[in-house]
Amino acid sequence: MSETTDFITDMMIALSNCSLYRKEHPAVLLLCQRAHGRLGALYEGDTFSIALLDDSLHINGQPFSEKSLHVKNFMKRLKRKEIEKVVVSRGVTVVELMDFIAEVALPGRISGTYPHIAWGIVEVKRGSGAGVDVSAIMEENVEKLKGVFHGVARFKRLDLKGLEEIVVSFIDTLRQEVNILKVITPAKSYSDYTFTHNTNVAVLSIFQAQALAFRDEILHDIGLAGLLHDVGKMFISKEVLGKKGKLSGREWEEMKKHPTYGAMYLATLPDIPKYALVAAYEHHMKFSGRGYPATRRKGGKQHIISQIIAIADFFDALRTDRPYRKSVDPMSIIGILTETSGKDFNPRLVENFVRSYKQVATASP
Ligand SMILES: [Fe+2]
Ligand SMILES: [Fe+2]
Repeated sequence: MSETTDFITDMMIALSNCSLYRKEHPAVLLLCQRAHGRLGALYEGDTFSIALLDDSLHINGQPFSEKSLHVKNFMKRLKRKEIEKVVVSRGVTVVELMDFIAEVALPGRISGTYPHIAWGIVEVKRGSGAGVDVSAIMEENVEKLKGVFHGVARFKRLDLKGLEEIVVSFIDTLRQEVNILKVITPAKSYSDYTFTHNTNVAVLSIFQAQALAFRDEILHDIGLAGLLHDVGKMFISKEVLGKKGKLSGREWEEMKKHPTYGAMYLATLPDIPKYALVAAYEHHMKFSGRGYPATRRKGGKQHIISQIIAIADFFDALRTDRPYRKSVDPMSIIGILTETSGKDFNPRLVENFVRSYKQVATASP
């Protein structure tokens, strides 16, 4: 392993420690001291630069191919923080390094002053005025998802990067807007349902995972799993998918194949987090082991990510007006979730959802 990988490894572990504990944790100081000591060998002239160009890492302007797990995670962290480039200059202190890493670990913009560290941020579109224009962001993401899903229907390669951008935007939005009802989008038209539904399920799943204090990497994978949970519907005939009335027995049988189709499709793709595949397959299973696709495994063997997505899926499906039934108001859905908790849904997750929903849904007008 090169000195650069060692440096990034120390920084990445320090970063994880900052997320888990605080920057004052002794391990963070130790790692930053070690990373600082390595810098001497890394400077080219008076600077050491790390840049992300598309999906590749460049060190001091040269492509860097050593991709250990820590390096990959470090890249992900920078990406999520919308940082394209970090340039460290000679004279940087351990404290500067430590404060900077702590800010990268935390949500929000970097606001500290670092005389020896410069970083480049990709500007993201924000709504005008004081707050974030949540509905504009969400509408934009629904449109993006539509584009990605149409690619699926034509058997193109899945635009994973596009999906990741959507997820990052959701995580960011949820950190700024506390009222979950403002973040989830109503379907504008019947044909938009699949896309708004998938974005809403992703948002509601990230929301639950944030309340459970899951790590950023997992939030990210859960978001992707939410966006893709119904991707199998792209392989269901248009007549069945778009039918405005109740489905016949045969049509229903076809519809029930979407989890299998989705998992089969995702299994053909490289780089898809395994959670996405598992959730696509399991999201209509029940906590008790019932549901579909039928499984011989009984008694709560559904993966926890699928359980989270199942709650999000149920909540969003019921709160949406469908041609065959009216939307159900959120508090009544909470009531049904609570009643079926332990049977259809994981009781701990229902408790987490209900508690956090009640907290935030009433937090702002
Ligand atoms: Fe589904
Ligand atoms: Fe769904």
